[in-house]
Amino acid sequence: MFNTLTQQPADKILALLALYRDDPRDTKIDLGVGVYKNAEGVTPIMRAVKEAERRWWDAEETKAYIGLAGDPQFSDVMINLVLADAVKRNQVAAVATPGGTGAVRQAFELIKMANPSARVFVSNPTWPNHLSILKHLNVEAVTYRYFDEATGGVDFDGMVEDLSGAQAGDVVLLHGCCHNPTGANLTLPQWQAVVDLMNSKGLIPMVDIAYQGFGDGVDEDAAATRLVASSCPETLIAASCSKNFGIYRERTGLLVAVSQDASAQATTQGNLAYLNRQNYSFPPDHGSRLVTLVLSDDALRADWLEELEATRLGMLSLRQQLANELRTLSNSDRFGFVAQHRGMFSRLGLSPEIVERLRADYAIYMVGDSRINVAGLNAQTVPVLARAIIEAGG
Ligand code: LMR
Repeated sequence: MFNTLTQQPADKILALLALYRDDPRDTKIDLGVGVYKNAEGVTPIMRAVKEAERRWWDAEETKAYIGLAGDPQFSDVMINLVLADAVKRNQVAAVATPGGTGAVRQAFELIKMANPSARVFVSNPTWPNHLSILKHLNVEAVTYRYFDEATGGVDFDGMVEDLSGAQAGDVVLLHGCCHNPTGANLTLPQWQAVVDLMNSKGLIPMVDIAYQGFGDGVDEDAAATRLVASSCPETLIAASCSKNFGIYRERTGLLVAVSQDASAQATTQGNLAYLNRQNYSFPPDHGSRLVTLVLSDDALRADWLEELEATRLGMLSLRQQLANELRTLSNSDRFGFVAQHRGMFSRLGLSPEIVERLRADYAIYMVGDSRINVAGLNAQTVPVLARAIIEAGG
């Protein structure tokens, strides 16, 4: 049986991890996978998370199953974090999932169950795993224009034109904040225009929010998701705790479905629990427990917010520094967009040849589409990167 299998295409982001690890040069710089690193290159366990873990180690008395949807308290704190009071609680169905990817996967499966002919419109570009999972599930993906290579911003006219070609029942996948891989985001008035377009055409929004707190602030980054959920009749939301709580390997996420009314909510909740049961039965508990403890304790929450804010500001200052260095070295403002982008990533607009030259000649690792993880830099490596980009022909 196994000899009928053929090799799967390598994941472009994860393939870099091994290449970087095996590079013996001690000047190497990793700007690949989206994992936060501090100035020392360490991915820290956040203080509040560590404290919650200590408390939970003492308090936990059993490892028995909890429920197919996970602990309802986790759903509550996360719904509050993402949606605040944008929708009524009796409109919301939610299940814990293994990470944001688990939520994305379950959302796509739910779409397929509810409407097998629905197509999913994804930004060009988008996180490669969106496309990969859709392909795996045999759900048709249609790309809409999003990134304007010339300006490093959003091609909003192109986006609207392409979404106008969607049909009632199609799903529009949107990045709630900190667009991955480009770092270019819609303004709130642009979000409002997309909401109006989706409502006029009967399109269903699905918001992937994996970097809340990494862009403009915890509430600012959720503003678009809240606008969509409060303005559209139905919304799917895949939320990740991997980055903003720094609990990558704990696999902690939430899938939320906002329904038109309470009766649809009950059936949707049942279907989400069913999907969990088919795929892995019970979602992992440890990470969601830590998030619940942090968000429901005033002191832990305040400390978490403080550390998250310091993280965000650190990335913002690296952006500014990189934009300044590139302005000086290139004697132009053509990389000015780096300071405008938000979140962990920026797409620099370098050719694959230059990306490869940076890896081979300078030991600088970025994704082939020239996406950099800003958090992979520090004040000392920013000038190194800027110089290498210009020398390599960028
Ligand atoms: C990324 O885009 O680098 C992260 O979301 C990690 C991943 O799983 O790809």
